[in-house]
Amino acid sequence: MKVTLSVIKADVGGYVGHSATHPKLIEATEKVLQEAKDRGMLIDFFVGKVGDDINLIMTHQMGVDNEEIHKLAWDAFLAATEVAKELKLYGAGQDLLSDTFSGNVKGMGPGVAEMEFEERPSEPVVVFMADKTSPSAWNLPLYEMFADPMNTSGLVIDPKMHEGFTFEVLELKTGETFLIPTPEGLYDLLALLGSITRYVVTRVFRRKDGEIAAAASSQRLSLIAGKYVGKDDPVMIVRSQSGFPAIGEILEPFAKPFYVEGWMRGSHMGPLMPVPMHMANVSRFDGPPRVVALGFQLANGKLIGPRDLFDDPAYEPVRQEIHQMANIMRRMGIFEPSRLPEDEMEYTALPQIIERVKGYTQEIKGDFEHD
Ligand code: F6R
Ligand code: MG
Ligand code: MG
Repeated sequence: MKVTLSVIKADVGGYVGHSATHPKLIEATEKVLQEAKDRGMLIDFFVGKVGDDINLIMTHQMGVDNEEIHKLAWDAFLAATEVAKELKLYGAGQDLLSDTFSGNVKGMGPGVAEMEFEERPSEPVVVFMADKTSPSAWNLPLYEMFADPMNTSGLVIDPKMHEGFTFEVLELKTGETFLIPTPEGLYDLLALLGSITRYVVTRVFRRKDGEIAAAASSQRLSLIAGKYVGKDDPVMIVRSQSGFPAIGEILEPFAKPFYVEGWMRGSHMGPLMPVPMHMANVSRFDGPPRVVALGFQLANGKLIGPRDLFDDPAYEPVRQEIHQMANIMRRMGIFEPSRLPEDEMEYTALPQIIERVKGYTQEIKGDFEHD
């Protein structure tokens, strides 16, 4: 049976500030999705959360980029926005960049990761959702999952994976996409993926049979809106086991903490912390950035789960290490590389500052000029 798994996320109001979502917003989206399930439009759904983002995880048979499914997600976010307005939550409706839905939520603010596939006899999938970061946060873990045999032994051991995987990479500023086969294109792939402000992985395919293995969101709100309107906190779907990386191989990259862009005001680097949903509210310096991994077994499109995969004492030492990494960055305060380079910041007062310092310069120049 062909199933589509759609994950659509938005921040439509923070509680308190940008730190978390209010339970009433989750309820409002669940009500809309339940009605769609009762009508038979959705097979199943689960509403997840990380930081101030709501993540709609939906299964259906209508394919990717389906207008009705995107409209459903839009309506669910609108319903949550109404509640956010009533409660005067922070930034109510902030990711709904348009007043009216125009056929596809892509480019309208919400983040989308979707894939359609023939459900295998057993179909384990992992849905990743992150807050206070950007789609390039998936670059390093996707490389490790699908192209690094030191992370994924299956690339060497499992005959179904041995031919490797093809990465689809998007250039964020021009919109151009590239297909890069690995292992032979590995160094070329890494040359792009290391540029986290410019290139992101959108999909990964298994070379042996072209099966889709992973799909990630790639919206950049800042580019869409032409001005800062919130961050493009990303989502991603990864298929697992028997010819795809094992659950443990999919999660392992997050056990070796790394820095991502997006902490505080979307303008700082911070370590990405793997957490269960109950630890996904952000407080310290509006962070540090969080990632949640929800595991599901699909059963004829039904979502059996979630298993909250970072809810494991094995990640406690990882989180301790992350506190140290966070402290090191915080010492740098407003200085790069703690603060992002000028053209990557989502806020900047620099143009006004330059005007002002020119003014100071004019005023006081004479004091230092002697004839
Ligand atoms: C938002 C975020 C926050 C905000 C910060 C300032 O996702 O990451 O760090 O950027 O709280 O928010 P404003 O400008 O709304 O006061
Ligand atoms: Mg927010
Ligand atoms: Mg967010």
